[in-house]
Amino acid sequence: MKCVRCRGRAEVQLRAHNAAYCRPCFVFVFRRQVERAIDSEAMFSHGERLLIAVSGGKDSLALWDVLADLGHDTTGLYVGLGIGAYSELSHAKVVAFAERRGLPLRVVMLDEHADGLGVPTVAGRTRRPPCSACGTMKRHWFDAAAIEGGFDVLATGHNLDDEAARLLGNVIHWEMDHLARQRPVLAATHPRFVRKVKPLFLTSEYETAVYAFMRGIDYVVDECPNAAGATQLVYKDVLNRLEAASPGSKLAFVKEFQRTAQPAFAAAPRDTPHDCERCGMPAYGTLCAYCRLVDEVERKTAAHAGAPA
Ligand code: AMP
Ligand code: FES
Ligand code: ZN
Repeated sequence: MKCVRCRGRAEVQLRAHNAAYCRPCFVFVFRRQVERAIDSEAMFSHGERLLIAVSGGKDSLALWDVLADLGHDTTGLYVGLGIGAYSELSHAKVVAFAERRGLPLRVVMLDEHADGLGVPTVAGRTRRPPCSACGTMKRHWFDAAAIEGGFDVLATGHNLDDEAARLLGNVIHWEMDHLARQRPVLAATHPRFVRKVKPLFLTSEYETAVYAFMRGIDYVVDECPNAAGATQLVYKDVLNRLEAASPGSKLAFVKEFQRTAQPAFAAAPRDTPHDCERCGMPAYGTLCAYCRLVDEVERKTAAHAGAPA
């Protein structure tokens, strides 16, 4: 198998793109693909301050690697979710990456900071699935850190597989509001929000894994222990089977949604948020989703403490 760019020996085959590449050409093409996504969606420009949410996984570390090498002003953000050994290992990988590359890193440990509430505590007390509590908490602390640090943009490592699975879930349940907001770039619609971008939205998980390997990035290989049984994984499995039978399906699904259908969903009238009474973040009721969650934990903890032994 030959590299389609230089005709040297290919090391990786990308069936969705009907192409094969040697190592240097793959790294070049991967970066160019990310750069094109950034430019075509006008995600950000040089000179803007970027906060990159890094979980210690391959996608977000690969993203940070690319953006730093493209000469952007990047700072990493790691949120310690308090999920035992998994969180400790991811924290260590992120710190090691930042040190090796000499890049600035911010860390928010939910157990110590953030009302002392890690994901297991919140999920346990509210009896919510950990991933749902975790999503609300992460979003809140990403926004809070971006505002506090005066950043222009918050970037996450969501990849094509994540976006395709999310799209499938949103379509199956016809989540009109979510479809209206499923964009690779979300403008700052509130004074307590910064612009949010997903530069890897057209880059597959396989491609980021290959890139991380070729670049010698040391990342957490294991999934979060709470992910087992999550519906998102079922959607990913279905999409992988579709992709195997018809290469390029995921890319077409996400790309064409963004090009043709998404604008129609976005054009539908929607409620505008006001300010959360407690923290000032955007809210659709009196409190934002995060403060509602914390409120629920407090009420349930108080009820538990007052219950007869
Ligand atoms: P996930 O929700 O785990 O699929 O992660 C999606 C993206 O969110 C990752 O690519 C990261 O950019 C970001 N992210 C997830 N977990 C964390 C974390 N603990 N700290 C910082 N960023 C995270
Ligand atoms: Fe949030 Fe697993 S990463 S529950
Ligand atoms: Zn709030």
